Amino acid sequence: LGVSGVRAQEPAMNYDESRVPAYTLPDPLTMSDGRRVADAEGWMSERRPELLALFESQIYGKAPGRPEGVHFEVLSEDRYALSNMATRKEIAVYFTDDEEHFMTLLLYVPNKRTDAVPVFLGLNFKGNHTICDDPLVTPSTLRTEPGKGPSEGFPRAAAASRWPVEMLIANGYGLATVYRGDIDPDYDDGFQNGVHPLFYRDGQTRPAPDEWGTIAAWAWGLSRAMDYLETDEDVDAGRVAVIGHSRLGKAALWAGAVDTRFALVVSNDSGCGGAALARRRYAETVARINRLFPHWFCDNYKRYAGNEDALPVDQHELIALIAPRPVYIASAAGDKWADVKGEFLAGVHATPVYELFGSEGLYGTELPPADEPCMSGRIGYHVRSGGHDITLYDWRQFVKFADNYLK
Ligand code: GCU
Repeated sequence: LGVSGVRAQEPAMNYDESRVPAYTLPDPLTMSDGRRVADAEGWMSERRPELLALFESQIYGKAPGRPEGVHFEVLSEDRYALSNMATRKEIAVYFTDDEEHFMTLLLYVPNKRTDAVPVFLGLNFKGNHTICDDPLVTPSTLRTEPGKGPSEGFPRAAAASRWPVEMLIANGYGLATVYRGDIDPDYDDGFQNGVHPLFYRDGQTRPAPDEWGTIAAWAWGLSRAMDYLETDEDVDAGRVAVIGHSRLGKAALWAGAVDTRFALVVSNDSGCGGAALARRRYAETVARINRLFPHWFCDNYKRYAGNEDALPVDQHELIALIAPRPVYIASAAGDKWADVKGEFLAGVHATPVYELFGSEGLYGTELPPADEPCMSGRIGYHVRSGGHDITLYDWRQFVKFADNYLK
């Protein structure tokens, strides 16, 4: 569909709960051929692969695996970072044999450690140097749409409120991050300037309709970061939590679904195409997200614009793909655009899959009160008061939840 075709099918935005249409969610425990999934084994060997393939071909697009040429280089290491509390490393993760294409991973690990540490890994929006007030972080090269970003790049520590590095270090966690633009710049350029062209077949000029968009590319980058973390002695690669806010929360969920090496997954305000159920058509819809961000998903996803009931999956099954690994879904009360209730219900409807594994998930039909996190099961949830953002409050809950599984 061209842009005008997408727009023609786009209904008005709905922010009224009473106008959410009646819908039937696909049952995560029923196979496409009608068979019921009986147990965890059947989930893992049959239903999970089936669902993964549907999400891949219809929503995010298929990504290549780990290229043979992937290799790493520690560019800097400093044991006296953050007032001597942490060791900072910067690592080039080269995507190919030649060292032309790479992303820079910024890693902090606590100096007070007796063993390899658990780590939170997430992409950042504005550059590695923006996540905290550390003067020695190498500034990322800004890769926004020509003419759109600040000409000097973002200032150091510009996003510090979103990355409580000291709090994580004090709690025994490392933090690893990569600038999203290092993997694929976040604008529609026909997939020329990110990682996609490295994988084009002869004569191919853009991904096929079932091949990766930008969100899948970001998720792929998170897996390449994990490839490195597996080699770092200071990191316990069996205890890496993948996290993301908003569009990067969509990427974190997809990374966690695809790559079972991630021991825990955190979605913050991920909304449409993330934790929120598509069939609710509340606020941002499939039509709208594909019109505004035509590069995020695979082209097949555009077929469901204004046609959500035809989707063979819904986002509760994305959460279910993470089972039995713990997942935390965070919403913000003022973030109507992300469909708070739809995010909560996705957790609730993923629960039967967690129960197959003998774990508890998330329960209820109404949203829990603001600022009262639910952490009794493997699907954690909170709605924070306030707006679309990731705050110290959110992170404190993620740490508390992670302490149950990664400590
Ligand atoms: C837009 C977009 C959302 C996305 C958000 C963000 O609002 O419509 O889907 O999550 O940007 O990344 O901040």
